[in-house]
Amino acid sequence: MHYSFTASLMARIIIAPSVLAADFSRLSDEIHRIETAGADWIHCDIMDGHFVDNISFGPDIVRFVRKETSLPLDVHLMIEHAEHYVPRFIKVGANSITVHVEPEAKHDVVKTLRQIREAGCRAGLTLNPETAFDLVEPFLGTIDMLLVMTVHPGFGGQEFRADQMEKVRRAAAWNKSRERKIDIEVDGGINDRTARISIENGANVLVAGTSIFHSKDYAKAIRELRGVPGVN
Ligand code: DX5
Ligand code: ZN
Repeated sequence: MHYSFTASLMARIIIAPSVLAADFSRLSDEIHRIETAGADWIHCDIMDGHFVDNISFGPDIVRFVRKETSLPLDVHLMIEHAEHYVPRFIKVGANSITVHVEPEAKHDVVKTLRQIREAGCRAGLTLNPETAFDLVEPFLGTIDMLLVMTVHPGFGGQEFRADQMEKVRRAAAWNKSRERKIDIEVDGGINDRTARISIENGANVLVAGTSIFHSKDYAKAIRELRGVPGVN
């Protein structure tokens, strides 16, 4: 893999548009447009209709996205039994895979994270808004990224939950005392206003679906998320 994630750590804000909000009737064009607009990673939301109350897409679509871009693919698995599907997402070109910590995800978190890393992929862990930070804390030393969900997963276009910023602050505090930092990602309801709040609290990776793909000018939307109008 030739993508350099580590260089990004804490150095700058990473924008990861979620293709869930893209127009799938012209997905290829959408991918090219967000790449040209300055996206850093592409976030792929995988939903199985069990762990979350929605079904999105699977490895075949991720393979298609992989063909259309050289940007890192950030795969967010909102599914049960992630360990069964991880190899398939790695095979089609995932660069990072994030799994859920909740017992309802029905997998052995330690084993799945190890499986992801041993395949040369970055490993992420995430938690729903209702889940306590204490559940992810023991794993922080074994992951590359913590994803703090700022909506209950399943659907795009929901309202950002500012009460989740405490988790972002706790992850940022953990990073301070460690040499090997983890990326802190937020996902759900991210727009220019909530991006500011997330960054101020310590997030460095912003996932955004609606605020990018439902805007007229993707480059402008991405600049606004970075908080640097005029600079990509
Ligand atoms: C939520 C997904 C998100 C979602 C974000 O279930 O994990 O990635 O697509 O969409 P917006 O930015 O519209 O909240
Ligand atoms: Zn997501």
